[in-house]
Amino acid sequence: MRVVSKLAICLSLLAVSSSAFPSDDSTLSPETLAKGKTVFMGTCFACHGADGKGLVPGTPNLRGKKSPLHQEDPVLIERILNGYQSKGSPMAMPPKGGNPNLNEEDIEAVVAYMKDAFLKEK
Ligand code: HEC
Repeated sequence: MRVVSKLAICLSLLAVSSSAFPSDDSTLSPETLAKGKTVFMGTCFACHGADGKGLVPGTPNLRGKKSPLHQEDPVLIERILNGYQSKGSPMAMPPKGGNPNLNEEDIEAVVAYMKDAFLKEK
């Protein structure tokens, strides 16, 4: 019984720490990054460019210190799901990048991919 309850405590600690830091590298599987890349190259690159620097006027540079990707995952996921337009911006980010087939899991994966690909200088 004692072993079981210790195990339960360990498991609940694990659950808490992984949900508190969703983009922690240690929780990122290669599958998630691969899926995110597929989503990005299938839908997002048309406006944001394969390198994330932005192809269409009004798209922000997703790389570097001023990248909007420095925001928390939930903020980014909400803006990608529902669309977003900042003050004075000439063009809005369309909901799901205009691809209604994307689900929340796809969006989480693409956020993980973008943070990995564009925020880390390699
Ligand atoms: C039709 C062009 C277009 C497509 C396709 C597109 N975006 Fe965007 N995106 C924009 C524009 C324009 C902005 C800037 C909006 C603003 O600041 O008003 C933007 C902004 C963003 C931002 C920054 C939001 C912020 O907080 O400032 C992120 C992140 C983003 N897009 C991710 C994505 C992802 C992920 C996809 C693919 C699922 C995608 N975009 C597809 C045009 C596009």
